[in-house]
Amino acid sequence: MERTFIADLRQHIGEEVKIQGWLQVLRDQKKMQFLVVRDTTSTVQVAFWKGNDAALAEQISTLTTESALTITGTVVDNPVVKLGGLELQLASLEVNNLAESPMPFEPYGDTLPQLDFRMDWRYLDLRRKENLLLFQVQTTAEFAMREFCQQNRFVEIHTPKIVGAPSESGAELFTIEYFDRKAYLAQSPQFYKQMAMAAGFERVFEIGPVFRADPSFTSRHMTEFTGVDMEISWTQSHEDVMAIQERWLNHIYQRVKDVHGEQIREVFNHEIVVPTLPFPRIPMAEVIQILKQRGYQLPADKKGDIDPGGEREIAAYVKEKYNHDFVFVTDWPITARPFYHMRHPNNPNLTMSYDLIANGLEITTGAQREHRPEILKKQALEKGLHLEPIQFYLDFFRFGCPPHGGFGLGLSRLLMVMLGLNNIRESVFLFRGPTRLIP
Ligand code: 4AD
Repeated sequence: MERTFIADLRQHIGEEVKIQGWLQVLRDQKKMQFLVVRDTTSTVQVAFWKGNDAALAEQISTLTTESALTITGTVVDNPVVKLGGLELQLASLEVNNLAESPMPFEPYGDTLPQLDFRMDWRYLDLRRKENLLLFQVQTTAEFAMREFCQQNRFVEIHTPKIVGAPSESGAELFTIEYFDRKAYLAQSPQFYKQMAMAAGFERVFEIGPVFRADPSFTSRHMTEFTGVDMEISWTQSHEDVMAIQERWLNHIYQRVKDVHGEQIREVFNHEIVVPTLPFPRIPMAEVIQILKQRGYQLPADKKGDIDPGGEREIAAYVKEKYNHDFVFVTDWPITARPFYHMRHPNNPNLTMSYDLIANGLEITTGAQREHRPEILKKQALEKGLHLEPIQFYLDFFRFGCPPHGGFGLGLSRLLMVMLGLNNIRESVFLFRGPTRLIP
């Protein structure tokens, strides 16, 4: 017999079916036994009349919650049953894996242990309905990203993660042994997505792993994360990049709301708000003035960057003034930006770049790139870079590389803000941090 997903049981009233899933609840009564069984689509009540088979009833009574089961039975319409108004009358039971009892914690129990403990037992934690929904949302979001890209003539690329030169700053770089020499784990696909511009691909995107040897213990940093990167040829400034990114995000939010909005409200008590276009844009210099006026003191050592508190404060301002959850902070000083960002033609101290802050959290860095080889070389030298290791990159710009711009977005940060979560450890399948390598 073929397996039926629980969500599809209503199409099989009166028929004998086979379901497979986990035992969530067992109620062993005098004459009847009720099992709540869960698969990734739904839950169902399974009923067994003890008088039918004493040996089977005995076996059912020894079942532990979270055991993996295969059950056959007849689907009956039963309006009094709260779970979907139907019931499966058990005919046979196969115990595929009896869960040890007690478990480190019960994913459907009354109390939820601390996050760190749950991370030790992540495969049990992932059984919670919040987590299943989160990864269903992630699937839809990635689908929508690709859908938009395909509709807008983007090509998907996968660039190497073992690299010979850092693509961002020399800090935050993992070094690995590569036969008899040193190599690095890619901090971003930056150089290679720009290579695709030199290759004439015009529009590319990548969804892939990114590594950062960042020793910080915050609720928003990981040492490995999934980066979503786009690069677009013939843009004239960061404005063209922002215009594409906001349409793209609007599309992703709309898809997620259409498919999961109701369930997100139920499970996370959170409303998906599809961001209206255009998103507000505020130049960095103005942001600093606004923060000052609101009495927010930026830390002195930030080189023109804003800190997380400042991001939240500017988000609060934008919410009050524009009733918007997103804001592009534009025109960053060169001190806070990498060498490959293009500078303003009329102010060489500013870059044509932006950060996107969503609900008070930075989720994106984007910019118009410098595509003129001589200027690019000069900017690299100004930042104190050695040219030799990045010569291959500088060469991309020698043979007709068009002007271009792009951005990078952290997938788990997007999920955090989409679902209103406070910690990035909750929005990634397995967190990687300075002291977390297992499981
Ligand atoms: O701001 P970042 O470092 O920018 C780049 O990598 C550029 N090459 C992008 C570009 O095309 N200009 O990283 C981009 C995004 C951040 O905005 C953030 O969402 C996420 O990646 N991110 C992290 N997410 C989790 N943990 C970390 N340690 C992250 N560092 C950056």
